[in-house]
Amino acid sequence: MPHENQTLGEFIIENQAAFSYSTGELSRLINSIRLAAKVVNHEVNKAGLVDILGNAGSENIQGEDQKKLDVFANEAFIKALSNREIVCGIASEENEDFISISGKSNTNTNHYVLLIDPLDGSSNIDVNVSVGTIFSIYRRVTPIGTPVTLSDFLQPGHRQVASGYVIYGSSTMLVYTTGHGVNGFTLNPAIGTFYLSHPQIQFPKNGAIYSVNEGNYVHFPQGVKNYIKYCQQEVEDRPYTSRYIGSLVSDIHRNMIKGGIYLYPQTAVSPQGKLRLLYECNPMAFIIEQAGGLATNGQQRILDIEPTALHQRTPFYAGSQKMVADLMQFLG
Ligand code: AHG
Ligand code: MN
Ligand code: MN
Repeated sequence: MPHENQTLGEFIIENQAAFSYSTGELSRLINSIRLAAKVVNHEVNKAGLVDILGNAGSENIQGEDQKKLDVFANEAFIKALSNREIVCGIASEENEDFISISGKSNTNTNHYVLLIDPLDGSSNIDVNVSVGTIFSIYRRVTPIGTPVTLSDFLQPGHRQVASGYVIYGSSTMLVYTTGHGVNGFTLNPAIGTFYLSHPQIQFPKNGAIYSVNEGNYVHFPQGVKNYIKYCQQEVEDRPYTSRYIGSLVSDIHRNMIKGGIYLYPQTAVSPQGKLRLLYECNPMAFIIEQAGGLATNGQQRILDIEPTALHQRTPFYAGSQKMVADLMQFLG
């Protein structure tokens, strides 16, 4: 039971009995994410002070500019989690291949693999706008004590054991689920402790915010165009408010608290949309569903998609139940 001033550390221990297996391992894993989040938070907060802004001079495997903080966050999370036996494998949006952490002569008996978008919304760093980290945890499917293989990472989202995000915003929060609802913790920066601030978050069943990069309007499928016009009509509870930050974590976090819908459709230029199934859409979809919302690619539930590649992309529509259901009418 949550109690007053409960810290994330206490919450993890008190709730570990709810997992049916490997409880200690999962607790240690979430603890390590908590620590890495604090390290990255510290770095994000001083981004304006030190010469950490700008490009690192390399591109990630999708050919996008890598910011220095992307590199920093990637290294911070990988370092924190490849220690000891926190996980047996890691796949990151910033790395072409997954990493196997098999230990000396395959002594790593850990059950879990981690997938991560270390810094989400990185184009917002230079202008002091919220960014995030997204993580996703699965039980490996190959035998314990052997090197992990691609199949350990290419699992449908409904097999996630836990997922969550950190938002480095006006305050820093860690929000996660282990399949028993969604809880949010706010960092007290003075003492470096996360406190339970948002117990059992519920996605409002309906909302009045739509979030989409409308600059791409001309390239959207007709159904999405029609839905956007519907959002803007002066009928009943419309027009809705338009809010788009350009950090998936921040856009979903706001909509989950206030009620809303997020759209990142396929376009003529990117036929699978932009967002990555494994590092962004699956973990966010698990959180969204656990809070009572919906997440779809327009044809099927995000969490039911069978992944075929580590860096695959998917169209993404997610939010309040009623709003996603309305959108589906337009998509046909
Ligand atoms: P990342 O910074 O990890 O590459 O992710 C950026 C993503 C996501 O956070 C955001 O919602 C989306 O890109 C914004 O894309 P547009 O600039 O095309 O709207
Ligand atoms: Mn991202
Ligand atoms: Mn990223």
